[in-house]
Amino acid sequence: MERSCYCGELSLKDLSKEVTLCGWVAKRRNLGSLLFIDLRDRTGIVQITVREDVKVPDVRNEYVISVKGKVSKKDVPNKNLKTGDIEVLASEIKVLSKAKTTPLIIADDTDALEDVRLKYRYLDLRRPLLQENLRKRAHIVRCAHEYFDANGFIEVETPCLILSTPEGARDYIVPSRISHGSFYALPQSPQLFKQLLMIGGFDRYYQIARCFRDEDLRQDRQPEFTQIDLEMSFLDQDQILTIMEGYLKKVFKDVINVDIKTPLRRMDYSVAVDVYGSDKPDTRFDLKLIEVSEILKKSEFNGFKENETVKAILIPGKASETSRKVIDNLTLEAKKFGLNGLGVFKFINGELEGSLVKFLSDSVKKEFINKVNPSEGDLILVGASSHDRCCFAMGALRSRYARELGYIKEGTYDLLWVVNFPLFEKKDDGSYAALHHPFTRPTPETEHYLYTDPSKVLSAAYDIVINGYEAGGGSLRIYDEDMQKQVFNILGFTNEDIKRKFGYFVDAFQYGTPPHGGIAFGLERLSMIICGTDNIRDVIAFPKNLKAACPMSNAPQRVDEQQLIDLGIKIDE
Ligand code: AMO
Repeated sequence: MERSCYCGELSLKDLSKEVTLCGWVAKRRNLGSLLFIDLRDRTGIVQITVREDVKVPDVRNEYVISVKGKVSKKDVPNKNLKTGDIEVLASEIKVLSKAKTTPLIIADDTDALEDVRLKYRYLDLRRPLLQENLRKRAHIVRCAHEYFDANGFIEVETPCLILSTPEGARDYIVPSRISHGSFYALPQSPQLFKQLLMIGGFDRYYQIARCFRDEDLRQDRQPEFTQIDLEMSFLDQDQILTIMEGYLKKVFKDVINVDIKTPLRRMDYSVAVDVYGSDKPDTRFDLKLIEVSEILKKSEFNGFKENETVKAILIPGKASETSRKVIDNLTLEAKKFGLNGLGVFKFINGELEGSLVKFLSDSVKKEFINKVNPSEGDLILVGASSHDRCCFAMGALRSRYARELGYIKEGTYDLLWVVNFPLFEKKDDGSYAALHHPFTRPTPETEHYLYTDPSKVLSAAYDIVINGYEAGGGSLRIYDEDMQKQVFNILGFTNEDIKRKFGYFVDAFQYGTPPHGGIAFGLERLSMIICGTDNIRDVIAFPKNLKAACPMSNAPQRVDEQQLIDLGIKIDE
């Protein structure tokens, strides 16, 4: 058996050719005098026609077979198949491998439960849709090699067994056999190593890097994922963003033939949160949060009066279509997002309607209408809470409602940079955490607040946001030992902590550190956007389920007693 070509690539130009094909039996129909087999390989399906006089072994779905035959024109073309103009008249069929009845149907439309699909992932992977997704993912990686190689970046691998570095998520840790009680961590990202490569004089680095984070999983999060990770020396923020835009432009053009207009627009974090209610705003639709705090705090309704921020969303033309039940659902939704409730107004016959209208004086009503500017038949949703909670909850509601109303056009792409983030976020207990990571440089204008009021420091960080996903993030880095120590201090690390956790890193700053910065794209997030799926598992060959487990191999599992003894580990049942 020597395969001469792929199934899905045959067409009328191959007429009369003798071919040998190999693949899986996708379907078989026996009409007595004729047997039809749909033969599938990674390129698609072709119809094999077997006449009575050809000896056929027992052939069933998902058997692996080889077929020798001649390409002929079909009398009636099959419009549903790419190869539908032709068929292959078989002269010889061999079974290379038999198959049991598969637990899931191998077709793009499957109703198999996800855990079944993950348990038999090698069968699930035969579905053309998954094959196409993984091909696109590979294409995005190929674009990275082509583009970054051409732009002078050097691909360097960094270690996976490293010293635990606090980067925001929980580490996966690996016990040392040689030094009982000591642990490596798996990298949450190659952050410190890529910075050390800049100190090491590499100037431009990139890597397709595996990252590991033990955090709660979501539709767009996996415990192990891949970054297209980059770092550069001696460039300012504009130069870095321009290089990255070039890469994104190439990905969209090469992989899905979409032209992206650059330079991409930039939006301040404060605008993203205030106007879109998200640090990763989906700007494909125009619903915005309208600031009505000053106005509605003058009402008699405590829910507005007693909160820091009140925001409204105007939904055109939905007053009459929005039933009590829909409103109850929206209110439940708002509560899920952290609000105490949701104010709902309708603008009908030029007047505001709704159970809260009685709390608004005529002048407040007027001001509110002037600000929100509704037209006849519009619906207005109002939420109130502390500033961030109100904005993020109303933002979540905005996205949810837009999806339900079909405001988002499939196949549109909106890319923007979110910039000027706060360097720190204040936690409930008053302490500070890094909004990105502790190595992010403050903006020159706000750097002095490091020593007076850290809450006012803005960072030279940038996130690339596409269709409401954070597809990547990066920053200029601190390259000054004293500033790095001050940031560590604000984050509550003692000198002892700094020495133990980052000693090697801070030491390196003493030997000549170039100004540098970088970014990491989430390869899976980019792939999801390019493939048009909102499930990260659709772009990963062997993903984990929502419990961070692999239903196929059953990882994680207990290990042999001897392995634990070797590692000096006792399990506390
Ligand atoms: P950050 O933590 O923002 O930055 O990660 C960069 C990008 O990686 C993707 N990402 C994930 N994708 C899937 N599953 C996850 N659990 C997950 N976590 C993150 C996102 C995100 O934007 N070292 C810095 C980068 C830098 O500063 O250069 C970092 O890791 O798309």
